Amino acid sequence: MTDTTEPAPQTKILYGGDYNPEQWPREVWELDHAAFDLAAIDTLTLGVFDWALLSSGEDEYDFTLLDAIVARVAESGRRFVMATATGALPPWLAHQHPEVNRTDFEGRRHVYGQRHNACPSSPVFRRLAARLAGKIAERYAGHPGLVAWHIGNEYGGACYCENCAAGFRVWLREKYVTLDRLNEAWNATFWSHTFTDWAEIVPPNMLSEHWRGPNHTAFQGITLDYLRFMSDAMLQNFIDEKAAIREHDAATPATTNFMGMYRPIDYHRWAEHLDFASWDNYPPTDRSEARMAFTHDLMRGLKGGDPFWVMEQTPTITASRDINPVKRPGVLRLWSWQSVAHGADAVLYFQMRQSRGACEKYHGAVLDHAGRTDTRSFREVAQLGADFSRVGSAVLGARTPARVAFLFDWDSWWASEITDGLNRTVTYPQVVLGYHRALWEAGVQLDVVAVDAPLDGYDVVVAPLLHLLKGDVASRLRAVVDRGGSVVSSFLSGRVDVDTNAFLTDAPGPLAPLFGVRVEETDSLPAETVNRIALRGAGLDTVADARSVFEVLVAEGAEVIGTYGDDFYAGSPAVTRNASEAGGSAWYVGTLLDQGGLSAVLRAVLAEHGLVGPYADEPELEFAVRDGGGGRIAFLLNHADAAVTVEAHASGTDVLTGLAIAAGESLTLAPKDVVVLREG
Ligand code: GLA
Ligand code: ZN
Repeated sequence: MTDTTEPAPQTKILYGGDYNPEQWPREVWELDHAAFDLAAIDTLTLGVFDWALLSSGEDEYDFTLLDAIVARVAESGRRFVMATATGALPPWLAHQHPEVNRTDFEGRRHVYGQRHNACPSSPVFRRLAARLAGKIAERYAGHPGLVAWHIGNEYGGACYCENCAAGFRVWLREKYVTLDRLNEAWNATFWSHTFTDWAEIVPPNMLSEHWRGPNHTAFQGITLDYLRFMSDAMLQNFIDEKAAIREHDAATPATTNFMGMYRPIDYHRWAEHLDFASWDNYPPTDRSEARMAFTHDLMRGLKGGDPFWVMEQTPTITASRDINPVKRPGVLRLWSWQSVAHGADAVLYFQMRQSRGACEKYHGAVLDHAGRTDTRSFREVAQLGADFSRVGSAVLGARTPARVAFLFDWDSWWASEITDGLNRTVTYPQVVLGYHRALWEAGVQLDVVAVDAPLDGYDVVVAPLLHLLKGDVASRLRAVVDRGGSVVSSFLSGRVDVDTNAFLTDAPGPLAPLFGVRVEETDSLPAETVNRIALRGAGLDTVADARSVFEVLVAEGAEVIGTYGDDFYAGSPAVTRNASEAGGSAWYVGTLLDQGGLSAVLRAVLAEHGLVGPYADEPELEFAVRDGGGGRIAFLLNHADAAVTVEAHASGTDVLTGLAIAAGESLTLAPKDVVVLREG
């Protein structure tokens, strides 16, 4: 069956989640759908782990049960996201073809078990996964209830087997063409590593270049290339399955569920192959609101600011932590609206009903094992469903009007963390999230983008720990300042080229002229050691604590804003600002400032462009905006445990309550409360 019709247009925020009724008897399906009606559930993701159910051998496929599930879903008037069922291997496949199992970082070939662990380079896996995707597409393409294709599941991890080694060599040949070029990129003359035959190259793991684990490598060049190769190898699995779908369905959009700030996969390398971005929101702690805001923005940035989906979140608890707290009253609603505020057009759960057995049987779900609908958590799920129905299409397709770009780069993440000689207690996400929190608390709208994204539309570009410089990023940052914009970067930026080799110039390498500084020494100390920084100038007059990394700067044209107070470099510059003739500024922060110091610096930068948000004095009151066909919608999200009272920044209507709000009016938000204000 070939279908070229687009799915019916979306009229509201999609609401539902992963539904696995193959795990329980059909009588229960009836109870499920009755409950879904109560909660305005309209979208169900089917078959993510159904490979063994659908296929019992290379040429044996049986869709009886999945057909019945689809038929029951369609009968209920709900729509479905169809998975390609390749998230877990069936036992017969691993038994007949042991090559589909991965070899781990220690070099151990695994045997059958768990999930998300197929070798991405295995020809057998690639052929049969794509064939399964094709069979499923052939069967369900053109179904009026089909909303999207869900390819694989949470791609990740790594494999170090012989097939991957061979794939790596092919990847390297395509990239470098000659061994001379490869040897140069890897600086192979260090420790006598000059390769004379492609066959000499083996994957970097504990049997070869590594000691103490994935971050300790003798050669950053090979390790960074292997990370890139692994990301590309799994991307190829996605591409194979998508191509198989496209043989039967030319139009229905396809995605896979990403994991936000997930180190092993460079989502920027994947983005162009997805029709829309989606991700699974499982924050590491219950106070991760700033981090979630950042991650939503990162995911939205993958497709140029287009809306994305929250493919999974738990309505109550996760099962994977040592201690699994429930979401407190109001938190599900607050976090769900936060995702919409940052660009989500679908809010889906893992899972609709709890698994009966295995490791996720206690994982939270819309329906518990008893299927009760008279619980606090179900009531909150149903309330949110009613909210989404009421709001209808108001935010759909609307975009974030950001004047600030935040650069995020997997290469810099990898390169800075697989390197000796820096400070291993300082991680890329930690630095990035510190800068982001300062911006988030100031209530500024921002896009998180790749280093090769266009920067023309932004007044401010924030690029902490831009360790590895590739492409023309240095000259494009320069252009921002030359047209009157501002750029902010941090310590350990501009240190290495795309191959991880140092620049033969002062740090921060090609960025040095932009910032008007050079780094003379880089000191790193245990986090207990504090250096007191005085911040003066450009509207700043305060002090801050600095820790961990201390670059001793020499100003070469830049104004000194921050000065070290302690140690032998007391009096030396720590923070600088280089003004441009066009009125722009390039700020360089040579040390890890505490949150108060970072906040002071970043607010000074935002203030230069009038970008500090309306509720910046209330750091736990999040302010986010979406702008589209339905007008400008402002979201006020009270993450605090206490009520907060503010003056409304604009007039409009709260679309959740229907109440009119006047600009300047006193507005009180209860703890965890949300206002969705259609301005005007
Ligand atoms: C992931 C997976 C789901 C489930 C949840 C549990 O996101 O995609 O299958 O395991 O985690 O939190
Ligand atoms: Zn492999």
